[in-house]
Amino acid sequence: MSRLDREIDELSAISAHPAPAVTRVLFSPEDLSAREWLMVLAKEAGFQVRQDPVGNLFIRWEGSEPCLPAVATGSHTDAIPNAGKYDGVVGVLGGLEAMRVLKESGHVPKRSIELIMFTAEEPTRFGIGCLGSRLMAGTTSPEQAQALRDSEGRSLEELRAAAGCRGNLGAVKLSTGAYKAFVELHIEQGPLLEEAKRDIGVVEKIAAPSAFRLLLKGSGGHAGAVLMPQRRDAFLAAAEIALLVEKAALESGSPDTVGTTGLVEVKPGAINSIPCDVKMEVDFRDTDKEARDKALARIGDGTHAICKRRKIEIGWQVINQDPPALCDPSLVALVESQAVAGRCTYQRMISRAYHDSLFMARVCPTVMIFIPCYKGYSHRPDEYSSPEAIAKGVKVLAGCLKELSAK
Ligand code: GLV
Ligand code: MN
Ligand code: MN
Repeated sequence: MSRLDREIDELSAISAHPAPAVTRVLFSPEDLSAREWLMVLAKEAGFQVRQDPVGNLFIRWEGSEPCLPAVATGSHTDAIPNAGKYDGVVGVLGGLEAMRVLKESGHVPKRSIELIMFTAEEPTRFGIGCLGSRLMAGTTSPEQAQALRDSEGRSLEELRAAAGCRGNLGAVKLSTGAYKAFVELHIEQGPLLEEAKRDIGVVEKIAAPSAFRLLLKGSGGHAGAVLMPQRRDAFLAAAEIALLVEKAALESGSPDTVGTTGLVEVKPGAINSIPCDVKMEVDFRDTDKEARDKALARIGDGTHAICKRRKIEIGWQVINQDPPALCDPSLVALVESQAVAGRCTYQRMISRAYHDSLFMARVCPTVMIFIPCYKGYSHRPDEYSSPEAIAKGVKVLAGCLKELSAK
């Protein structure tokens, strides 16, 4: 087993759920242990480590001209409940491996190379994904971040302080020109590369994600005593809205629209009590922003009509509504040339999942390198990428970092 494969296994064992599931929620004991573990690895490899006020970790290999904008790579190590061991991890540990291999080969970078472990790419704790990179890009303001609360009412401020992240959140924003380029290695999380038997996906565009939360208020009561015409059942409104989300995605006119009602909390949550309160969260995405926004407007109108008919009060909170990101054409060409140099087959593609690259693309030229994963499975315990597939991704990444850091 290679050093990298062993480390991927080791990290997967730092989990709140037993193997093969991996659960590492932001600032949970597991997330904190994973961070400590990564910092030890980085220091052992001879790199410097620093942490910003929101807990983004920067693992730096100082170049011979440290004042030049650095070349960055990285991804995340947090994991949604019951996830697998490769999402994000391949980009972090694969990035570390790429840096170590370059160092061992005698490469002397002119520009520094930084591996970034982004805080909370996953939205599990605060409902918003890419928290660390959003703050780095300035897309989320420190005030918006300070207002975040998790489902237990704990604030980001409280949790980050407990995790030892000091300083003002305003300091997380990157200065213009901080990086020359950002290259993120990631599993595809879809089936296309495996089906096409290609080693590398060269990402040209990242789909536009959006998410919203609905707070529906009806009227509770006894499940036996309140007759049907008198009811104001908040869950039935939620059920109709979830079906509308599906319909709006199916009928958007864009083949890439996807809508998911992934979270529904029903209160009081008793079999013999009419649901009076529902919190639901909907994830809605497309590569075509206009088609997505038109479908979202349809969902908005339909939701108000459903709630009016059912006499349900409604609170609508936009969690995010981000534009898509375009990867940098010269970096796309660089990844292709490194794939050729590494004797890897490749194809250009779109990322349907979001990544920290979506926000890094606002700060510096950005590209993503995808590798195949088994049947496209992701966000589930049987997520799998073979050691050979990962090794090819690392080889292409190392080639890109070598090129970019040399001049
Ligand atoms: C990232 O995890 C996503 O949901 O796209
Ligand atoms: Mn993920
Ligand atoms: Mn990911």
